[in-house]
Amino acid sequence: MCGIIGYVGDQSALDVALNGLRRLEYRGYDSSGIAVVGAGALRIARRAGKLANLEKLLSEGAEADPMPGTTGMGHTRWATHGGPTDANAHPHTDCTGAIAVIHNGIIENFAALRAELEAVGHELASETDTEVVAHLLEVELGNVAAAPAAAVPEDVTPRPIRPGTGGAPGPGASANLTAEPGTHPLTMALQRVCRRLEGAFTLVVLHRDSPEVVVGARRNSPLVVGLGAGEAFLASDVSAFIAHTREAMEIGQDQVVEARRDGVTVTDFAGEVVEGRRYHVDWDAGAAEKGGYPYFMLKEINEQPTALADTLRGRLSTDGAIVLDEERLSVQDFRDVDKVFIVACGTAYHAGLIAKYAIEHWTRLPCEVEMASEFRYRDPVLDRSTLVIAISQSGETLDTLMAVKHAREQKARVLAICNTNGSTIPRESDAVLYTRCGPEVGVASTKTFLGQVAACLLVGLYLAQVRGVLYGDEVAAYVERLQRMPDLVERTLGRLEPIRELARSLADAKAVLFLGRHVGYPVALEGALKLKELAYMHAEGFPAGELKHGPIALIEPGLPVIIVAPSPRGRAHLHGKIVSNIQEVRARGARTIVIAEDGDVVVEPYADHLIRVPATSSLFAPLVTTLPLQVFACELALARGLDVDQPRNLAKSVTVE
Ligand code: M6R
Repeated sequence: MCGIIGYVGDQSALDVALNGLRRLEYRGYDSSGIAVVGAGALRIARRAGKLANLEKLLSEGAEADPMPGTTGMGHTRWATHGGPTDANAHPHTDCTGAIAVIHNGIIENFAALRAELEAVGHELASETDTEVVAHLLEVELGNVAAAPAAAVPEDVTPRPIRPGTGGAPGPGASANLTAEPGTHPLTMALQRVCRRLEGAFTLVVLHRDSPEVVVGARRNSPLVVGLGAGEAFLASDVSAFIAHTREAMEIGQDQVVEARRDGVTVTDFAGEVVEGRRYHVDWDAGAAEKGGYPYFMLKEINEQPTALADTLRGRLSTDGAIVLDEERLSVQDFRDVDKVFIVACGTAYHAGLIAKYAIEHWTRLPCEVEMASEFRYRDPVLDRSTLVIAISQSGETLDTLMAVKHAREQKARVLAICNTNGSTIPRESDAVLYTRCGPEVGVASTKTFLGQVAACLLVGLYLAQVRGVLYGDEVAAYVERLQRMPDLVERTLGRLEPIRELARSLADAKAVLFLGRHVGYPVALEGALKLKELAYMHAEGFPAGELKHGPIALIEPGLPVIIVAPSPRGRAHLHGKIVSNIQEVRARGARTIVIAEDGDVVVEPYADHLIRVPATSSLFAPLVTTLPLQVFACELALARGLDVDQPRNLAKSVTVE
């Protein structure tokens, strides 16, 4: 949700910002903007719509370098407060035009702050919550200049703005004061401003008179630092600067980072210096490029065998135990678990629904799966013996993060399944298992869904192992079978041309229904979600047995219904039931598209279209049955002329509640 890049160094800040925004655009694409400080000026360019609109604007001027300078920042927006207009595009400035701010998140008390500012004469030009920060900085720079330096760190109480105390707009204090690292006036002003803000935010700020620094802050929203030679980057995620450096630093909750050419200093909001954790990014710029594919989504669908293999690699120690990545819980803690909750959103929630079948089957523990956005508001029953599994590709989804925080406040243990090293959810959790799928840029989750399902299966086996429900050799046998799945995924991907053709032929359909039973039900939900988000088509997933309780009224002649059939071998009783369900919808005129495993001849007479997948065991089947549904949605959306990487109204990482 909004992509941010800040830069200080020797390169053209405009080039760095534009390249960074190209990699961050998946985070939001309602508008974009850039600010550069150079030659004594703060220059800003911003435009509603996709980044291409901003690039066009920048190329229209006569100047060879429309924004000279080596300190700057860029922003790509997913609108929250105020529509996607030029005026609401970031960066936003103060009354003096000397301070520029970009922001990701929501400042919940912005209305009160705006009223305070307007009462003392500040004029705000946009409808955004962000703009108040620029004006508050204007105020606080005046206060910082007026206050004895030693008093600043102790002054942590939010104060209202009063005329005559730096509150009224005016020339503002110059931020061009030389200072010890971490005590730059802009840094100190930002610390003070952050203490007044409520909500979630990543902020990056610049001052016209301070080309030596770019300053950032975060609370409940992502911000990572890139450390180059003689340059530093602040960004929403590492993909923004991976072309320049793979050395990164995490910024913790409620911290401010002052970046200069020669290094960075991190403080808390009270001004105390704190240590940031450095790490090396283990993938390179190529992983976040299209690599010859017209869309990231197509590339990421094809990367699934590798993503799955990497997630599973090295998970079995020599003594047959399953290996998590970061374990701040003891084996005894896992043994003491008497109930499991899974919290997640969207596609990750569907992975959780699949996990429930495996966890309950293998561990005999009750397992509830809950949409993270609902979890903390209904007062779930949690205690020390509850294990909460939080699944998130980005590790920044605010709904999931808040569920994690709530669970920990209630003393539950939290295990994160996450694809992004150094992100917030793993940091806030007691244990972590990383899906090693590499960067996923397409807004629709594909390869990370497979990674999440595999990781959940590993967690299920891990729990079964430590609790003694499965023997070591049984666990090892399951893991071995899981490790054969990347090959089956590869083979499935190689035979999906029929579903592509079918998708193209259905480009004008009004709706599609998806049915499944057992683990096929979450797969049906995932197929419907993919079609909604990519093709903007009405799509619903149902448990096949539930249809007769109401939704069957939706069936009309010609309506495409996709049915995910369970294996006739492992779950023969279920298979018989779904064959009846296929006949029920067919009898009412539906056009049936059946996803069935090789050798399932029973479904043949009832399938108008039969899509074959390799046979596998029931609990692992979603790793192959999901693939035709991803391809179906992608191809149908492309046939409708839509951008599958950046569907309308969406963003990859959802950092607002
Ligand atoms: O980063 P997360 O896994 O926490 O994201 C959760 C959902 O927002 C995400 O899965 C979303 O539903 C996908 N875009 C669907 O394809």
